[in-house]
Amino acid sequence: MEIRRIQISDVPDSLALWDRVYSEGAFLAKGPPPEAKVLRVIETVVKEKIPNFVATDGSKIIGTVEVFPGTMCGETFDGADRRGHLGIQIDSLHRGKGIGHELMLIAIEDSKRYGFESIELYVYQSNLPAIRLYEKLGFKVTCYEDSVTLPAGIETRAQGMTLSLVQTD
Ligand SMILES: CC(C)(COP(=O)(O)OP(=O)(O)OC[C@H]1O[C@@H](n2cnc3c(N)ncnc32)[C@H](O)[C@@H]1OP(=O)(O)O)[C@@H](O)C(=O)NCCC(=O)NCCS
Repeated sequence: MEIRRIQISDVPDSLALWDRVYSEGAFLAKGPPPEAKVLRVIETVVKEKIPNFVATDGSKIIGTVEVFPGTMCGETFDGADRRGHLGIQIDSLHRGKGIGHELMLIAIEDSKRYGFESIELYVYQSNLPAIRLYEKLGFKVTCYEDSVTLPAGIETRAQGMTLSLVQTD
């Protein structure tokens, strides 16, 4: 297993992973956007070294983690460029082997280098593996969304979580 920065040529395989995880119906609110749009975004990611990483098994992408500045996610308020928004997905055949943890550690370290002051994410309360992972890394709950029924039939709600990257002492 190798972890490295995403490259333009990874886009089709990354989107296929995103689509497979979305199709499980239990973890992600949205499926992948059109490939042409993602290609434009990843060009910026590569140029500006925005923290986006892939895990590969040598030939295939088996995990991705991405942290985007708020300004790339529609936020316009002061400081939005210093708030990172994180997503992570591991192929179902490769979960529980430490890959998610390793990708998160790399994303957090690179987010500090990039200048993010915090990392934000949303996770469904039914997604206990993800919540345990985030809690273990120091993420704290910030808000709760309304109840939803996921395509897999699970009734749950999303919670916001944040990790501060700014030292307070
Ligand atoms: C959540 C996810 C990223 C975790 O990645 P992973 O590679 O399976 O996790 P790891 O093997 O690195 O485990 C890291 C920690 O996560 C937690 N965890 C992982 N699998 C777990 C499980 N089945 N039950 C409970 N906790 C679990 C544990 O705290 C674990 O640490 P430990 O092994 O020391 O106890 C992965 O399961 C995934 O991609 N799920 C589907 C997509 C998704 O939920 N994305 C996040 C949306 S917010």
